[in-house]
Amino acid sequence: MTVIALASSKGSPGVTTTALALAWVWPEVATSRRVLVVDADVAGGDITTGYLRGAVTSTDGLLGLSSDRSGDATAALWGHLIALDDDATRLLLTGVSDPAQARSLVGTWPNLASVFAKLDEEDAPVDVIVDLGRIGSAHEAAVLRQRADHVLLVMRSSLTSTASARSAVRRLAEERSAAQNELLGFGCLLVGECQPYNRAEITAAVEAPVVATIAWDPAAAEVFSTGSPAGWRFSRSPLLRSVRATAAALLPATTPTQVPSAQREPIPAVSGAHGRGVAT
Ligand SMILES: Nc1ncnc2c1ncn2[C@@H]1O[C@H](COP(=O)(O)OP(=O)(O)OP(=O)(O)O)[C@@H](O)[C@H]1O
Ligand SMILES: [Mg+2]
Repeated sequence: MTVIALASSKGSPGVTTTALALAWVWPEVATSRRVLVVDADVAGGDITTGYLRGAVTSTDGLLGLSSDRSGDATAALWGHLIALDDDATRLLLTGVSDPAQARSLVGTWPNLASVFAKLDEEDAPVDVIVDLGRIGSAHEAAVLRQRADHVLLVMRSSLTSTASARSAVRRLAEERSAAQNELLGFGCLLVGECQPYNRAEITAAVEAPVVATIAWDPAAAEVFSTGSPAGWRFSRSPLLRSVRATAAALLPATTPTQVPSAQREPIPAVSGAHGRGVAT
């Protein structure tokens, strides 16, 4: 089980888009392992209104999990997921729609981090991609960041993005050493290299490695950010090709790739999510 936490330091560089794109390619790259996207953006998640175009309400998911008193935390998590495809390979835990709801999740974040750690003991091992939104928000899911295997700051290549990323990297580095977490990976995901700065220039400026670059591809990005229809070349788009390379770089070589038969209740699929006219 690998937990990948994506966050931003300023603006909207593409955290949600990149998280969903990673989930899209994950079963291809991780040879049929499941992937769970957690919308943990306390400013209000955009996945249900964007990618899913309102096909589900956001009142369950994390909020449902936070009020679940059934006792078995792992079972509770499974009970509040929705599937983004028919075979439940890509799963989603929806987030809050209003920042005011985030306060009620403060006690949920540590429990969720503990459940993630048990997911490989499950009948169907799952890797986790967490959309943390912007670092420093009130009631943010800092514990998910502190206990992740990879913490990746999503950024653009502008001077503004670079300046705020530099401060955030310092903060994350301090947090990482305080938490004494031996992270597998820590660095930046650069969305749109050479607009205007290149990878080497960004690495030097933010004093952290650029783990991967994500292609600048507005058309493919809109499939994930607004739920716009995917064209026939979507699967071979620059965005997905770059995200496949990113996913391969993030997977530990030792990750087991078999999916044992699932024993749990089937997870309801959202109609029109990954199946929405997409050529794969
Ligand atoms: N690789 C990309 N190429 C081109 N445009 C992109 C790319 N990634 C994201 N975008 C666009 O950038 C905008 C913001 O993307 P997104 O919502 O994913 O950002 P975010 O960091 O999650 O923002 P927020 O903090 O507001 O939630 C969207 O219009 C999206 O289509
Ligand atoms: Mg977002």
